[in-house]
Amino acid sequence: MSQAKNELDPTERMLRACRGESVDRPPVWLMRQAGRYLPEYRQIREGTSFLEMCSDVDRAVAVSLQPIDLVGSEAVILFSDIFVPVLGMGLEVEFAPGPTLADPIRTHAQIEAMRQTDPRDEVPYVFEILRRLRGELADRRIPLLGFAGAPFTLAAYLVEGSGSRDFATLKTMMVREPDVLRSLLARLTKLTVAYLEAQIEAGAQVVQLFDTWAGLLDAESYREWVLPVHREIARSTRREDVPLILYLNNGSHLLELQLEAGADVISVDWRVDLERAASLAGREASVQGNLDPCLLAASREEIFSRVARIAEQASGARGHILNLGHGCLPSTPVEGVRAFTDAARALGRG
Ligand code: CP3
Repeated sequence: MSQAKNELDPTERMLRACRGESVDRPPVWLMRQAGRYLPEYRQIREGTSFLEMCSDVDRAVAVSLQPIDLVGSEAVILFSDIFVPVLGMGLEVEFAPGPTLADPIRTHAQIEAMRQTDPRDEVPYVFEILRRLRGELADRRIPLLGFAGAPFTLAAYLVEGSGSRDFATLKTMMVREPDVLRSLLARLTKLTVAYLEAQIEAGAQVVQLFDTWAGLLDAESYREWVLPVHREIARSTRREDVPLILYLNNGSHLLELQLEAGADVISVDWRVDLERAASLAGREASVQGNLDPCLLAASREEIFSRVARIAEQASGARGHILNLGHGCLPSTPVEGVRAFTDAARALGRG
């Protein structure tokens, strides 16, 4: 079959889509694809805390690989959490199930006391997991993604002490004690750069920066507090020639600024009009997204038609990576995820 000959392997397809080079069809993977919606994950996880899982190399490797065969994902993301590198700074973070701190960060003294060390020494298991995964994936030509939480999102939890609807403590700090927040962000930026560099060295072929809470800000505050941090991280990872994906949740009002960071790919949620994103991104960046994860509960036919529509809307982009607008939920039906990745493959046959 001549068509099969032209088919790219999943690593080439992903890297080419990130760089805006021509592809046969969009690559597909899902945020939070390794996790509780999968019975096989729950089985491996049974009786183990989430943080124990993150540092148990064998089990973390096993659950990272599950989505390839169980749901047909075409990229593997390291099983971990955005708070793992923060543990290496000496902070005590617990998961219940989201990150919580008994001692939220509110003062200069607490920031001074945060250890500045090499993540390779503090959380060596992260890099061991990546090295093992890269070895496991080589034959199948599946790309390996690393990731980090963006400093603003990390700071949101560290200052608040837990998740929150509006992160009012954080926003109050922005106006009452801007210097404290500035120095916290500076520390976290250094950490993030070192962490991503070490992941790339350990084999990550693409890295994604998650800024889940930056969308809480208006454009002016975002430009002041978030954009310089993203730029700094994009500049450092660019040096390594590994594509960087920048994800914002709830950021449709920030698209232009999201593009100013200089990431290779902007990842957007379902509120964003993909045609508009593609046209703003032009030849500067590819786009990733953006099905609402709740729609994975729809019928297979409905998921296929939604995916076709998303691909159509993104067709003007220099590159498109099919993904969700946010992560899979514990209640996400496995067959919906399977339909989603099948729909991506069907685009190549259309
Ligand atoms: O499959 C993957 O995507 C890889 C692993 C991954 C996890 N968290 C595992 C996880 C990734 C990429 C993350 C990123 C993450 N973690 C973000 C950014 C992306 C996003 O979802 O907005 C944020 C904000 C966090 C912080 C976090 N971790 C929260 C708020 C929670 C609780 C809410 C929830 O979804 O459970 C976690 C816990 C967490 N991280 C779980 C998993 C599999 C669930 C823990 C469990 O199994 O008990």
